[in-house]
Amino acid sequence: MSDAKTVFVRTYGCQMNVYDSDRMTDALAPVGYRTTDNLDEADLVILNTCHIREKAAEKVYSEIGRIRKVKDARAGGDKPMTIAVAGCVAQAEGEEIINRAPAVDLVFGPQSYHRLPELLKRAGNGARVVETDFPTEDKFAALPAAEKAVMMKRGVTAFLTVQEGCDKFCTFCVVPYTRGAEISRSVAQVLDEARRLAEAGVREVTLLGQNVNAYHGEGPDGSDWGLGRLLFALAEIPGLDRLRYTTSHPRDMGDDLIAAHRDLDCLMPYLHLPVQAGSDRILGLMNRKHTGADYFRLVDRIRAARPDIALSGDFIVGFPSETEADFQATLDLVSEIGYASAFSFKYSPRPGTPGANLDDQVPEEVKSERLQRLQALINDQQRAFNLSKRGSEMDVLFEKPGRFDGQLGGRSPWLQAVHVEAPAQLLGEIRRVVIEDVGSNSLVGRLIADRPAVATPAEDASRVAADAGGVA
Ligand code: SAH
Ligand code: SF4
Ligand code: F3S
Repeated sequence: MSDAKTVFVRTYGCQMNVYDSDRMTDALAPVGYRTTDNLDEADLVILNTCHIREKAAEKVYSEIGRIRKVKDARAGGDKPMTIAVAGCVAQAEGEEIINRAPAVDLVFGPQSYHRLPELLKRAGNGARVVETDFPTEDKFAALPAAEKAVMMKRGVTAFLTVQEGCDKFCTFCVVPYTRGAEISRSVAQVLDEARRLAEAGVREVTLLGQNVNAYHGEGPDGSDWGLGRLLFALAEIPGLDRLRYTTSHPRDMGDDLIAAHRDLDCLMPYLHLPVQAGSDRILGLMNRKHTGADYFRLVDRIRAARPDIALSGDFIVGFPSETEADFQATLDLVSEIGYASAFSFKYSPRPGTPGANLDDQVPEEVKSERLQRLQALINDQQRAFNLSKRGSEMDVLFEKPGRFDGQLGGRSPWLQAVHVEAPAQLLGEIRRVVIEDVGSNSLVGRLIADRPAVATPAEDASRVAADAGGVA
């Protein structure tokens, strides 16, 4: 029954959904599905959804409306279309989706991806299937690995989920409900997947988790390993030149992790460390379990360990009862920390979360006005950070063809996009570049031809020394 069929996946939300979408198509490959970029020809359409804010969730329904037209046009023909809703909206709304959107055949949550072939078979028999249990089996062990050829096509950077779910229950957030309790994959599983990625040509791996630094996977000796120890082991894998991880919670920045930032040259000097707000009263109401002062102390320790580290963050404005003074505390925190980039959002009350029931919701226009002020400050900081790189040398990993012929697009250690005139054979390579120009969202660099491609250990050491000397 496995004639070639096609699946089209549309991904919303965070990087974990991006990872999951690939794993879903990996799970479908053995039963005869190949991916397509053309929705109109797809046998199966999967919307991998996000529930984090109201707007994100609503987008899904309007998209279903559009896809339904394609499905209806094909009804009765020999190429029917199956529509599936996966991800966090699926988990949060389950049955409701089927009621609200009759065109949907299958709804399944993030903990059921490994069962996709079986769920499809059930949906194929005319049933409308909703699968949102949190099963106890190890989803990751049950998911098939991608074929090497497929992996190679996915490029030189990859995501790798090491931890999923969250036990923190911040009062604004749906993740503990949509992704379930925190689980960590075993060290062996993570190393195995990372090795396979490296063998397929991946140079940079970003470890993922909703709370990635709460990672506590079972090590080969049966003991619990933290994220720091895991990073030290990953750093040993030949070919993996760059490691990153996201998203981390300030409460879980353990000593081993800070040591990894100090000691591992391949751990990129860029850390996403959301704080959400600057006011201690709001942080308390958000159940973040730390104060602004705790965050400052932590950032000092991280910067002492890795002086060239740049920070990014997430902020919510207009959490219930937030006053102008509370908001000012957020602006003050941002000014004092200095971010290389940051995301900021208007608080969106989510059904089922404690924040949605708090009195004193902040009016929409106040939220909008605060968001504008915060974003202006963040934009200034981002511009200043980018400008600080003008004239400096850095390593760039070339990831894709550039905007113009003869150019390649790459990333700096600080995740900035860098455009460089370079031959196509440098795709997937890291080269030394000098930054000659700084645009609003990217840098322009020039190859430094007389530097070796891959630093020898001795040159590597001199580079560390140079970086520590403050290539601001
Ligand atoms: N685990 C991460 C956050 C994951 S959600 C952490 O602990 O920081 C990504 C971001 O979405 C959050 O950092 C927060 O800034 C934002 N967010 C989450 N829920 C939200 C809500 N109800 N309204 C607005 N923004 C929200
Ligand atoms: Fe959500 Fe992050 Fe808080 Fe967990 S730690 S509840 S994922 S914001
Ligand atoms: Fe969205 Fe779910 Fe990620 S709610 S942000 S897709 S964990």
